[in-house]
Amino acid sequence: MKFAVVGSGTMGHGIAEVLAIYGHQVKLIDISWDILNRAKQRMEESLRKFYEKGTVKEDPSVILSRIEMSTSYDVAKDIDFAIEAVPEILDLKRKVFQSLDEIAPKEAILATNTSSIPISEIAEFTSRKDKVIGMHFFNPPQIMKLVEVIPSKYTSEDTANKTVELARSLGKVPVKLRIEVPGFIGNRIFLRLMQEACREVESGEASIEEVDSCARNKIGLPMGIFELSDYVGLDIDVDLWENIVKRGTSDVPCKLFKEKVARKELGVKSGKGFYEYPGNKYLKVKLPATSKVDPARLLSLAVNEAAWLVENNIVKPSEVDDVMKYGYNFPKGLLEIADELGIDNILRNLEDIYNKGYSAYKPQDLLVKMVKEGKVGKKSGEGFYKYA
Ligand code: 3HC
Repeated sequence: MKFAVVGSGTMGHGIAEVLAIYGHQVKLIDISWDILNRAKQRMEESLRKFYEKGTVKEDPSVILSRIEMSTSYDVAKDIDFAIEAVPEILDLKRKVFQSLDEIAPKEAILATNTSSIPISEIAEFTSRKDKVIGMHFFNPPQIMKLVEVIPSKYTSEDTANKTVELARSLGKVPVKLRIEVPGFIGNRIFLRLMQEACREVESGEASIEEVDSCARNKIGLPMGIFELSDYVGLDIDVDLWENIVKRGTSDVPCKLFKEKVARKELGVKSGKGFYEYPGNKYLKVKLPATSKVDPARLLSLAVNEAAWLVENNIVKPSEVDDVMKYGYNFPKGLLEIADELGIDNILRNLEDIYNKGYSAYKPQDLLVKMVKEGKVGKKSGEGFYKYA
């Protein structure tokens, strides 16, 4: 198939690389040759790593020869599928989608990797609303297996099926939402993790390092919550936070993240965020081996969010778990972990924090019902899953 990837930054260059690894022809479009050349260098470095490990058999130069770079949309005139990965600015998305709609063949699907702008708003920039869809990759796209597929109210079933199939053919695990919700699945849960991490620190319950040590050493996550926030980019975190809350999700008061962004401390990409990254390169953060933070407390708001998603039939418990395993490299699904920690413990923490005046922690009916019925997880034989 022939693809256009518009935007060659952190996500765009990774998506183009994945497509080329799987044998596709890619037109990588961006506004300047400086940006495109930097993308080429990053793709070269990444492909070299894969080649040396043997996970990619073809020589990097052969794979790269399938990627044609351009500063003009004209190269998109014979594509089958486009994926947009430009900054989250509505006017920019408008320009990209209007240009693609004008130049790409009428039957081409136009996907967006947005993490915070409603897909239907983007679809409305085009004359092919049924062929516009969300295809949300996770950072780094070369490694993370998850792709969230988000049909808008206009997207046809054919477009959704083709997008799911494409994700599968790229070795990814697609999770399709039944209805579009702000932040989709992964970022809604990631937001809740950031909010609780921030609340614990700002209320003096724990330090940043203790929160992150709990996440990494007790729960087994690949990164602490603040460490992951630095990795994603604090400007992106604040952006997705504001976009989700603006569209009707309850907020948790927190200043830490915004203050960092105001000081231009954006995480890995600026060399400093909650931690320091010499040379603007990610380096595993050093954390204390032990922590007083309770995993059931740190995960409580995220589990409550997952319960909301399940209760509202957006996704099934196993799909929430796929999102966290394949999009965030959780060692187990969030709801599997919740079953192990005990739904009663999760509920107790939610009630405790709610009673301190944080309205976002109001326990979901599903959790209250599960506890009432004695479905408290592994120890009772049933929680989100059944145990023999
Ligand atoms: N290309 C090729 N290889 C890469 C790579 C890339 N771009 N990035 C990392 N690697 C390789 C490294 O070379 C290393 O290989 P090795 O094990 O053979 O030495 C391996 O991956 C592990 O990398 P590191 O040693 O640098 O560090 P870690 O062991 O911590 O792994 C990680 C890095 C895979 C990123 C891991 O920390 C992780 O899974 N973190 C969680 C990431 C996550 O949650 N992403 C989702 C963010 S949210 C999002 O994207 C949504 C958006 O909308 C905000």
